Amino acid sequence: MTPAKGPIPVEQLTREEAAAELTHLAKEILHHDTLYYQQDAPEISDADYDALRARNEAIEARFPKLILPNSPSRRVGARPSTGFGEVQHRLPMLSLGNAFADDDVVEFLARIRRFLGLGAEAALDIVAEAKIDGLSLSLRYEAGKLVQAATRGDGTKGENVTANVMTVKDLPVRLKGRAWPDVVEVRGEVFMRRADFFALNARQEEAGAKVFANPRNAAAGSLRQLDPRITASRPLHFMAYHWGEVSAPIGEGIWEIRKRLASWGFRVNEPARLCHGPDEMLTFYRETLAERAGLAHDIDGVVYKVDNLALQDRLGFVSRAPRWAIAHKFPAEQAQTILKAIDIQVGRTGALTPVARLEPITVGGVVVSNATLHNEDEIARKDVRIGDTVVVQRAGDVIPQVVEVVLEKPRGNTPYIFPNECPVCGSQAVREPGEAVRRCTGGLICAAQAVERLKHFVSRDAFDIEGMGAKHIVSFWEDGLVKTPADIFRLKASDIENREGWGEKSAQNLIDSIASRRTVSLERFVYALGIRQVGQANAKLLARNYGTLDDLIRNIAAADPEGAAYADLLNIEGIGPGVAAEIVGFFTEPHNREVLEDLARELSVEAAQVPSDTGSPVAGKTVVFTGTLESVTRSEAKARAESLGAKVAGSVSKKTDYVVLGADAGSKARKAAELGVTTLSEEEWLALIGRAI
Ligand code: IVH
Repeated sequence: MTPAKGPIPVEQLTREEAAAELTHLAKEILHHDTLYYQQDAPEISDADYDALRARNEAIEARFPKLILPNSPSRRVGARPSTGFGEVQHRLPMLSLGNAFADDDVVEFLARIRRFLGLGAEAALDIVAEAKIDGLSLSLRYEAGKLVQAATRGDGTKGENVTANVMTVKDLPVRLKGRAWPDVVEVRGEVFMRRADFFALNARQEEAGAKVFANPRNAAAGSLRQLDPRITASRPLHFMAYHWGEVSAPIGEGIWEIRKRLASWGFRVNEPARLCHGPDEMLTFYRETLAERAGLAHDIDGVVYKVDNLALQDRLGFVSRAPRWAIAHKFPAEQAQTILKAIDIQVGRTGALTPVARLEPITVGGVVVSNATLHNEDEIARKDVRIGDTVVVQRAGDVIPQVVEVVLEKPRGNTPYIFPNECPVCGSQAVREPGEAVRRCTGGLICAAQAVERLKHFVSRDAFDIEGMGAKHIVSFWEDGLVKTPADIFRLKASDIENREGWGEKSAQNLIDSIASRRTVSLERFVYALGIRQVGQANAKLLARNYGTLDDLIRNIAAADPEGAAYADLLNIEGIGPGVAAEIVGFFTEPHNREVLEDLARELSVEAAQVPSDTGSPVAGKTVVFTGTLESVTRSEAKARAESLGAKVAGSVSKKTDYVVLGADAGSKARKAAELGVTTLSEEEWLALIGRAI
């Protein structure tokens, strides 16, 4: 079948014609892609190829419902609930650690020098750039052409927003010049200028449509439109600051690569400066802060990055942030308003948090009507009373805070008395000695805690169940549909579809999205349990050390404080006695065990993978470093071992595979000899991991 092509203007196509043509175009574009990328033998000119893609996109824009899963604009299988395909980032998209004070910046540099074993006199160039407040995007170019654009998503998987990004005028659809590798992923920030944001909000308001809270949200909302025509109508901009996969090196340092990015047609972050030490960095920070208000777009700090890529490589990452970069945040913006009421919220672990209800006020371009008051002591210390005028501040993405009372303004009459009962279940709320937080003792009977635990369970870093928002959890909980995590996996479409606000299709979508999460990594599973003090980092440590859920439960449940299992838990570098006690407490509590076993029956929990280089001879081995190493610092040795999949422990036990002896190794060397554990010299260790000194 040869559908009509070309002559019929897109506006005049019928649905049937459009569907037929999209099928045809998908095949044809794929055919040309194969010829072009894999066989280097294109049959048609670039202009004709672009025309095919443009036509495909124009038809999709008019008939978004007809977009095919294999459409050239959606290269990866679509996730129906968001309407965007999923893109697996070949290199993760990371976030940055934060510095707030000058000292944090000095410490950042000192940490790097310590890690690398660099003396104070050795040069360490740092690139400083403005930190744009937008959303990060990864643009993949093949043979100089933009073939895919993806949002950061969870850092590992993002959304395929290619069709939308094609409409952004401020980035090259084809790279300029010639000096680019065949494959290059350029990363940077999409943002909206402040003036454009205000104009857009004015138009939205007039049209009775959603207004955006700030330029960042407006940029995100504009990019994540199912209809690329809407994106095209929004003035989005892009600045490049980083890269992902590259088929050939693009330079040796960031400063040089910035110039290369600019030569390919990208705007790069300005202001920027190559600095040579803390003084120059802090001067750049202060000058940029002074320029902030005069810039066309929002910036929320500056980013410092080690210029040299070879050093970056050695420094590596901790959790989700590189050791070689940090964001130095600008101070929060502040405003004054009236405190109308104080509400108490009850969290997942029973903590009572006071929330200020405010007369709405704009702080740094964002309307704020709620702010945190932290805890009981803070309220008392600031003597915050209902009716007071208070100073509110917000910094970046963090929750707005009440900073202080404006004492010159009329005061509220009575000091605030913090409740000693849970406002939700009425149980007593107590403060443990030494704790700032008052907690509800209702435990399992407290509705607030149960609901918060479920919210945490479905949240993005845990089970990431799309379409199951906080409102839904509350209403399912109230009606007894979902009381425990396992209940979520027993939900049926028929339970939901007749409820208010739901229909057959939305109910089925939710059931599908739940079903897609029945297989889960051990790390996410452990994090989702919401154990106190077990965030993502500790969940990862536990997953990596125990490997499977069965082993984890078996070992931890047997962990009496005197026994070997407990010592093993404590031996995990990063798990201290406080955390260990929470973990053991959780897994030995009979009710938790019931809930856990019930849940495990509904799921398939994947064994933890050794992070990388599974082929390495040290993957899965437990290693202890002791004494002074010659070629690298202890931290670098540890990071390197971990990146090869080894576990690094702080003390020697029967489970230790290798003890690496540096100069002047002491008691750990003796212990290794006693227990018959293999010891290695530094040289032998380096030979084992295949790295020369
Ligand atoms: S460098 C490995 N440079 O800030 C990460 N990031 O808070 C490399 N951002 O995820 C990032 N301006 O989305 C870098 N000049 C800049 C930036 C910048 C804004 C964003 C980026 C990052 C986030 C972290």
